Amino acid sequence: MALFLPLALCPSNSMKATLMMVKTADGFIAKTPNQSPMEWTSKADKDIFVKRTKEAGVIIMGLATYKTIGKPLPGRLNIIMTFKPEEETNIPGSLEFTNKQPTELLTEIEARGFKEVILGGGTAINSLFLKAGLVDELQITIEPILFGGGLTLFKDLDLNIKLELLEMKDLGGSVVNLRYKIIK
Ligand SMILES: NC(=O)c1ccc[n+]([C@@H]2O[C@H](COP(=O)([O-])OP(=O)(O)OC[C@H]3O[C@@H](n4cnc5c(N)ncnc54)[C@H](OP(=O)(O)O)[C@@H]3O)[C@@H](O)[C@H]2O)c1
Repeated sequence: MALFLPLALCPSNSMKATLMMVKTADGFIAKTPNQSPMEWTSKADKDIFVKRTKEAGVIIMGLATYKTIGKPLPGRLNIIMTFKPEEETNIPGSLEFTNKQPTELLTEIEARGFKEVILGGGTAINSLFLKAGLVDELQITIEPILFGGGLTLFKDLDLNIKLELLEMKDLGGSVVNLRYKIIK
């Protein structure tokens, strides 16, 4: 049965959701679920991540990713997805835990005046938003390192999504940053 949401409950086409990730040259975003990207990524990637998330003003991440960081990223609204938000402590406007699902969450963020939201991982949250058709762009840094195994960008999805390359930046030190549009 098809599910039709009233228009007011869907994000409009004017708000952009950009999934921003850093991965190894062999395609992994972490070795283990509790490893922070801060441990192995370049300064160039950290700089671009800070710049883009501050421009957007809001980042969504899963509780596992938040726990690898351990504190809210300053100067941005941090929205943390968990099925048990009542167990966590909100700092309104800075750190907000939610069990709202992707469509409702993006609609609410847009109603708060944001024009872009950064989807900041990890695998579970990336997969949730991509599966719902709510990702507009991917911005991916590729670090010159191999892990040989670990977590991937997405999990358990049978995909055939085409991408258009919008921008390719050499960040120096063998690090590249790619920006793709998701063709819908
Ligand atoms: N390289 C990068 O750029 C990058 C970026 C971000 C993260 N990472 C890595 O990714 C790893 C974490 O990824 P992960 O897949 O294990 O976890 P995750 O996506 O960060 O978070 C998973 C958690 O999100 C909550 N969640 C999942 N689906 C939900 C839904 N539909 N509604 C509400 N809450 C939901 C659940 O929290 P509860 O269990 O509390 O309900 C779940 O345990 C870490 O190693 C991190 O370093 C890498």
